[in-house]
Amino acid sequence: MSELNKIALQILSNGKGILAADESTATMTKRLDSVKVHSDENNRLLFRQTLFSSLSMKECIGGVILYDETIRQKTSNGKTISELINSSGSLTGIKVDTGAKTLAGSKEEKITEGLDGLRERLKEYYKLGARFTKWRGVYLITDKYPSKLSISANAHALARYAALVQEAGMVPIIEPEVLMDGDHSAKDCLVKTSEVISKCYEELELNKIDLKGTILKPNMILPGKDSKEKISCDEIAGLTLECLKNNVPSSVPGIAFLSGGQTEIEATANLNQINIMNNTNFIMTYSYGRALQQSALKFWSEDINNIIGTQKIFDHRAKMCSLAAQGKWSKSFENS
Ligand code: 13P
Repeated sequence: MSELNKIALQILSNGKGILAADESTATMTKRLDSVKVHSDENNRLLFRQTLFSSLSMKECIGGVILYDETIRQKTSNGKTISELINSSGSLTGIKVDTGAKTLAGSKEEKITEGLDGLRERLKEYYKLGARFTKWRGVYLITDKYPSKLSISANAHALARYAALVQEAGMVPIIEPEVLMDGDHSAKDCLVKTSEVISKCYEELELNKIDLKGTILKPNMILPGKDSKEKISCDEIAGLTLECLKNNVPSSVPGIAFLSGGQTEIEATANLNQINIMNNTNFIMTYSYGRALQQSALKFWSEDINNIIGTQKIFDHRAKMCSLAAQGKWSKSFENS
């Protein structure tokens, strides 16, 4: 087994998943503003450090994705954040793209940037303790989007990123996120997401990526958030599995979904159903940002010194996600 394959499996196996705590400072400021907490370096560290020292880290979180600011921070005991994460057996990850910018040639769409100087940045992140990385391409669904240009340009960037990351001895998370924004149907989401993912693998293969040493982070197949279509958990799981089975090469060890604006319960219930119905060899787990942090953030904002109380809320959510990653979750556990 290659070293990269080992890292990927360590992150995803045994009911573990990923905590995506890599919000950029601008996004984290939005999250903190929404609960009326001042966004400064200390508060951002305090919230994150509270989560990273929770009990559930050991059992439920195989990897944590950080933002550049956080990987350079130290806890109040002088440990680096990476040491804190590693102390519970979890691995440190880092977001290495520099954000989605306007795509020249299709101005309503985005292209993710960050390839310039990436080889050097990766060396530094490895020294800071990172063993895996993330790059997010973002795609919009409308009647004319995602365009062929955005599908092709983002897949190309993702593949070049992945090649540099593997060269640096780390596992790349490939995140092509087809957004939930809009009133499109689940069928549209299936068609467009399939096109996006299949183009990513075409480029990844061209760039000679060792797929066993990668993780795919896709969206689930859902109707747009302004659509009137109501579909069941079973249908969501069925469509999501169909998309992944048809477009992801079987050498990929695992898939870790983003939550993408689903509520905590929706993201948990849908992942659970995907695992109950899983007819593939892929590990199916979570790489959630909002769906792991939302309740904990709200609770913490009422008293930012209530570390234990905040950790209890986070531990519950992480445990529910871990059960869902094994197809063992039930709604009745939410109130216990
Ligand atoms: P959400 O789960 O909040 O969508 O965040 C995951 C993520 O990392 C998006 O890039």
